[in-house]
Amino acid sequence: MEYNFDEIIDRKGTDAVKIEGLLSNWGRTDLLPMWVADMDFRTPEFIIDAIRERCEHEILGYTVKPQRYFDAIHSWLDKRYNWNVTEEMIQFTPGVVAGLAFAIQCLTKPGDRVMMQTPVYHPFFIFTEKNEREVVYNPLILKDGKYRMNIPQFKELIKTCKLFILCNPHNPGGRIWTKEELSEIAQICHENHVPVISDEIHAGLALPGHKHHPFATVSEEARMNSITFMAASKAFNIPGLSSAYAIIENKTLKERFTEQLEKTESGSGHIFAFHTVATAYEKGEEWLNQVTEYIQGNIDLLDSFLQSHTPKIKAIRPQASYLVFLDCRSLGMTQQQLIDFFVEDAKLALNDGAMFGKEGTGFMRMNVGCPRSILQKALNNLKLAYNKHFPDK
Ligand SMILES: Cc1ncc(COP(=O)(O)O)c(C=O)c1O
Repeated sequence: MEYNFDEIIDRKGTDAVKIEGLLSNWGRTDLLPMWVADMDFRTPEFIIDAIRERCEHEILGYTVKPQRYFDAIHSWLDKRYNWNVTEEMIQFTPGVVAGLAFAIQCLTKPGDRVMMQTPVYHPFFIFTEKNEREVVYNPLILKDGKYRMNIPQFKELIKTCKLFILCNPHNPGGRIWTKEELSEIAQICHENHVPVISDEIHAGLALPGHKHHPFATVSEEARMNSITFMAASKAFNIPGLSSAYAIIENKTLKERFTEQLEKTESGSGHIFAFHTVATAYEKGEEWLNQVTEYIQGNIDLLDSFLQSHTPKIKAIRPQASYLVFLDCRSLGMTQQQLIDFFVEDAKLALNDGAMFGKEGTGFMRMNVGCPRSILQKALNNLKLAYNKHFPDK
């Protein structure tokens, strides 16, 4: 079956953050929304059918986690990553961010230092600070259009920390970290008795030619010293369902984590989480192959368009997912001028790169999980704005 990602679906009137947030964030509604991280593609029909089917039984009562949920996660992770995850290792969480925050609460105390690598998905430092832990930044290094870790500095800084938050694949840098990179940080964290919590929400969207490596699979040190957070949400475009899961092999870590969830009764999950995750993993492989091909096509279009028409803006090509960090430093604008350029001139709503940490200054993040004709429209807008400022390119 050929899925149609070219279809334009009007999301107005559905309370979509991407649409409704235009007014609250930009004070206007005439911008092309290419920001918050969900896709403008139809959620796969087989998932919608699973929800419909469950609704046909007209009692939506309290629900246990069906065996099918665990079996589907097990088979998916085994097939894709050769990772043998048993039912005992899986814990439902009401979202990846919630899971990360619970992990911070049970693995550290107020005042403890927590390390992360910026620019990074901004809730990492927001919830760390809100939980009164100190954020320690080990900024990534951008070299030849690719982000790398600063390992010498990592080794020094980690000595003072109680927890490390990894983003794998990285948002907004787009990197899928290699086994070697992950093994190295696993060893360093193990030696310093610092557990790792790994946000792998974008793993399912590894782009053609790239393979994701779950952190816990790279070494014994990683396996026994980590909590991995995964979800079907990004890959299958169901992030509105608040459903994710943690995988924890170390029994002590698992106990501490589940106890934390029990304190707020947050680990029980809900009907639609179980049915959609199971269905996505049972039926979704071909859809995922096609959607990642399509996203790759969008990234290729974006990259070649920028090179031809707006050469001072460079795409950091992601290895996973549909979020592209745009290096706009050669435009020579202040951050406010850059934001104004995208909003006032190009009529585009992108994420301000500086929200991901000060290393994101001079960057903007663009979501290309949309029909190609929408992306083309956005690029045409960008070209017009660019020509106004840089008539000689
Ligand atoms: C790296 C990363 N982690 C977590 C999330 C959000 O996860 P959830 O909605 O499951 O809390 C996002 C959403 O953009 C993300 O990019």
